[in-house]
Amino acid sequence: MKVLYFSPTGNTKKTSIFISKSIRKKLGCASQFLQTVEAIDFTSINVRKSESHLRNISTFFSSEDIVIIGLPVYAGRIPNVLLKYLKQYVGSGAHLIIVLTYGNRHYDDAAKEAYQIFSNCGFDVFAVICVVGEHSFSNILAKDKPNQLDFIILEDVADLLVRCIKKNKEKNIVKSVSTIEEYIEHMDIFTDQILIKNIEGLKTEVPLKPYFQPLDKNGYPFNFIGIKPITDQNCTACGLCASICPMGAIKKDAFDTVNGPCLKCCACVKRCPVNAKSFVDENFIKHRLELEEAYSENIRKTELYI
Ligand SMILES: Cc1cc2nc3c(=O)[nH]c(=O)nc-3n(C[C@H](O)[C@H](O)[C@H](O)COP(=O)(O)O)c2cc1C
Repeated sequence: MKVLYFSPTGNTKKTSIFISKSIRKKLGCASQFLQTVEAIDFTSINVRKSESHLRNISTFFSSEDIVIIGLPVYAGRIPNVLLKYLKQYVGSGAHLIIVLTYGNRHYDDAAKEAYQIFSNCGFDVFAVICVVGEHSFSNILAKDKPNQLDFIILEDVADLLVRCIKKNKEKNIVKSVSTIEEYIEHMDIFTDQILIKNIEGLKTEVPLKPYFQPLDKNGYPFNFIGIKPITDQNCTACGLCASICPMGAIKKDAFDTVNGPCLKCCACVKRCPVNAKSFVDENFIKHRLELEEAYSENIRKTELYI
């Protein structure tokens, strides 16, 4: 089994690894799929650009594999900075479970986009799971998600996926809709906590919705491109921010200087041990406050497309 993820603030990593371990455990020793879980973290630009890594992902998957790929939702889509990289994957018929985490606004067309990208790469996209994670921009929106309860639900999701996998005794994983329906019928708590949808609904000829764009104080769409985090006097020059920045944008010898493109992923803000980083742009703050106001109350259920 293989698990690959991009996860600047850790929600996607936690969720994808949990699901892969849970599936592996439930598949049991007799399974043809029981191998070690190989994990690849492609959050760092150094990994995404490494020649040996790029060579590896073109031969890494086979039709015998179960693969989990985890991505966060940015602006209702797959982070666009990853597209060029992801399109280099060669799925070779591997059975893919896509894990998307999002900050409780919505995942919009990200599930459709991920389905499209990875089907085009030659994966057999088996399931897409959308899970709420604490919003990158906020410390209160969907705070501490995914949490204990989410992981209990994800155990059930893993259970369902493994039943579908085991249903087929031969080599290919074939989902049987009747199995899914029969199984779900017997799971009252499960169905109460999760929305199950038909994966066929992700196939679409219709163009995807544009990237979500927040509005500035005058009601005009603004984009975040030029906005960068600032560093205050609390900075101890530990260098963690520069080492975890997924774009390698923070200068290695001047941690208050962002000299490359910034995704606003907030890894440096959330993971700084002395809280020395922040975004002070007024539009950014306005957007954060609006999100907190609009989406803190009703936390969305985990959704499973299968
Ligand atoms: C640039 C950016 C855009 C985002 N856009 C959305 C969005 O459209 N909808 C949403 O619900 N959450 C959005 N989020 C929140 C993240 O999807 C969410 O916090 C995710 O779990 C972060 O994953 P990570 O912890 O693995 O980095 C956005 C976060 C960032 C950094």
